[in-house]
Amino acid sequence: MMSSSEQLTSAPTHLLAGFVADDAISILREDHRRIDGLFLQFDKARGGELKAELAHRICTELLIHADVEDGIFYPALREAMDVDDLMDEADVEHAAAAHLIAEIMGMRPGAGHYDAKVKVLASYVRHHVQEEQNRMFSKARQARLDMRALGEQILLRKKELQGLSSHYRPLGVPPVLSGVLQMASVL
Ligand SMILES: [Fe+2]
Repeated sequence: MMSSSEQLTSAPTHLLAGFVADDAISILREDHRRIDGLFLQFDKARGGELKAELAHRICTELLIHADVEDGIFYPALREAMDVDDLMDEADVEHAAAAHLIAEIMGMRPGAGHYDAKVKVLASYVRHHVQEEQNRMFSKARQARLDMRALGEQILLRKKELQGLSSHYRPLGVPPVLSGVLQMASVL
């Protein structure tokens, strides 16, 4: 399997067109806000098709978000300071969410416990987001990481994954997003 840096260097150059680098933490916070909004929409949704569409978007967004954290943000923070306990917890939280995401992406609304699985996923994610926003991001600021450079890597990787996963609709996890599940299975 290619490392994240190898995958980044092989990203098509057209992905750089019109690209504005942003601070890594701002990008990750914006993901959190958008994903929480999707969970709220799912809560209010009625009808299988709408639920399926929202659950697919939630799971896809979460897998892309976890991929850039696992491959770019977390390793940079681990290297910059002694935060292994905090990062280990985050790894386990990602792994627990990844198992649930894989189940949800393999199901149709109406199947047993579908809504319950999405609700439990929302609570996992909200807890994880609290940990990141209340503890991890302040550590990252203290570590004086180059947030612009990390933000650039994160945006490139996200665009690559979004492009490769956007047309995938069969049940199951899009193959391009299976890296997070592979990581989950080795913890
Ligand atoms: Fe996050």
